[in-house]
Formats: sequence, structure tokens, C-alpha cells
Amino acid sequence: MIFKSEMKDRQNFIESKIEVFNPKEYGYQKTIFEAMNYSMKAGGKRIRPIILMESYKICGGKEDIYIPFSAAIEMIHTYSLIHDDLPALDNDDLRRGMLTNHKKFGEATAILAGDALLTNAFEVMLTEGLKYDCPERVLAASCEIAKAAGVNGMIAGQVVDVESEGQKIDKDKLDFIHKNKTAAIIYACAKVGAILSGCDQEKIDAMGRYGEKIGLAFQIVDDILDIEGDEKLLGKHVGSDIENDKSTYPSLIGLDKSKEVVSDLIKGAKSELEIFSEEKEFLCELADYIMNRSS
Ligand code: IPE
Ligand code: IPE
Ligand code: MG
Ligand code: MG
Ligand code: MG
Repeated sequence: MIFKSEMKDRQNFIESKIEVFNPKEYGYQKTIFEAMNYSMKAGGKRIRPIILMESYKICGGKEDIYIPFSAAIEMIHTYSLIHDDLPALDNDDLRRGMLTNHKKFGEATAILAGDALLTNAFEVMLTEGLKYDCPERVLAASCEIAKAAGVNGMIAGQVVDVESEGQKIDKDKLDFIHKNKTAAIIYACAKVGAILSGCDQEKIDAMGRYGEKIGLAFQIVDDILDIEGDEKLLGKHVGSDIENDKSTYPSLIGLDKSKEVVSDLIKGAKSELEIFSEEKEFLCELADYIMNRSS
């Protein structure tokens, strides 16, 4: 119960900080701004920016430098959802309880809105981040996010995910998909918070391991919810994976075994936080929330 209200407070706080970076809708290119803002303002749990913020604070960060990075990571995540929903990928028409971007604005604009959000993310983290007196941290953090979003991170996972539709793949390949398409960005959030705080390497590494474990658990739970979830709570259609003949954890090892894997990952993630002080409580509970979530 306490966690629920603490989570709500953080979501409201992050929401107000992200909002500032939404572009004004003007000029000949007005439509693209509208499309970007449509998906950014559609809600979403804001898990990634919250993880980045918490990691920064637990690692001793005292400034606001995490804010442009939190906003940027939500822009990158939102771009990934817009593109993931396109007919050429998962072909979904409901996202965050609203029509998907391409259903509302058409495919061309949705593709460009995704491109714009990704590029804008780097503009924001570099322009705003470099206003603080720690350029090495800003560059290291930006580089970490680029790696996580790119061809050895999220894009790697997405391409193998799409190529594997209709095929029987082994556990190794499925882990590759999940670690890259989803865990890579969540890993980067936890790690970047630590990098920006200027803490020692031991803490940066522990945060990274925490992020990777909750990230993998996050996608397995997403697969489970695609079978057992409630469309209204999720704000997206259930059954999309079966429709697209995707390889998922439940399709490969079954629902019960998938839940066991999630539980082990969450236990492991929490143990990575042992080296942190008592302020780690929220991230421990966030790991449980990822396991037990219904949206
Ligand atoms: C959905 O992410 C896509 C995955 C990586 C599984 P979220 O479940 O975090 O989506 P929002 O941001 O809350 O809409
Ligand atoms: C999405 O995985 C991963 C991304 C990089 C967006 P899914 O395709 O399972 O996400 P949902 O279920 O559409 O949100
Ligand atoms: Mg997908
Ligand atoms: Mg999808
Ligand atoms: Mg899914």
C-alpha cells in the first residue's frame, strides 16, 4: 500500500518533469510535433525514467542532471513502442489505451514521429546534460543509452523477434531477444543513474546487474500478460503474440515455469541491491511490482 502511493508520487513527479520537454506544435512540420506529443502524453507507467532517477539518488546523486536523461529514455521507449506497433512489425492498433500512432496519424507520420523522438532524446540529454559540470559522465551516460538502443541492444532484439515469427526457436535465441529488445534499455536506466551520480564502479556494476535482471523479468511478465492480462488495465490488446506466432517464454516453457523464472530473477535482482543503504527499499519493492504487475 505504501509502495503504491510512493509509486504514484514518483509517476506524477516524473510526468511533470518530462512534460517540459514535449515540443511546441508549430510550423509546416506541425503534424510531427502532434504525433510525438500524442504518444508521449498517452500515459504509460514511466518505469524506465523512475528507475533511472532512483538509481541516481541511491548512488548519492544530489542534482537534477538525471531529469533530461529520464525524459530522454522515455522518448526512446515511446519511439520503440510506436515502431513496434507498425503493421510491418506487430501490427497493433491499441497502445496506452488509445489508438496506436499509425492508426491515428498514418504510417509515414508514425515512422517519422519515432525517428524524431529518438533523435530528440539525444539532443535533450546532451544539450541539457552538458549544462552541468561533469561532461565525462554525460558522455559516458549518453554512450550507454546509445548502445542499449542500437544494433547491439534493442534493435538486435527487435530484428530477431520479427525474424523469428512462425518459427520454433531455442531458449538461447529467446533469451537473446528478450535481453536485447527489453532488458537492454532497463539495464541502461539503472546503470546511467549510477554513472551520472559519480559513484564507484562497484555500485555502477551492481546497478547494471539489477537492471538486467528486472529487465528480463519485465519482458517475461509482458509475455505472460499477453495471455492472462486484462486489456483494459494493460491499454493494449492481449493475444497479440499468439496472433503473430511469436516465440515467447510461455510458448517455449509454459506459464508456470515462466512465472518461476520471473520469481528467481526478481530474487536475484534484489540481492544485487545488498551493497546499498536503507534507501534501496523502493527499488526492492519496484522489483516485486514488476513481477506482480497487471498493467
Ligand atoms: C511495453 O513497455 C513494451 C515492453 C518493452 C514490454 P511498458 O509496459 O513499460 O509500456 P508503458 O510505457 O507502460 O506503456
Ligand atoms: C516490445 O516487445 C519491445 C520493444 C522494444 C518495444 P512487445 O512487442 O512484446 O511489446 P508490446 O507487448 O507490444 O508492448
Ligand atoms: Mg514486438
Ligand atoms: Mg508489440
Ligand atoms: Mg508483448
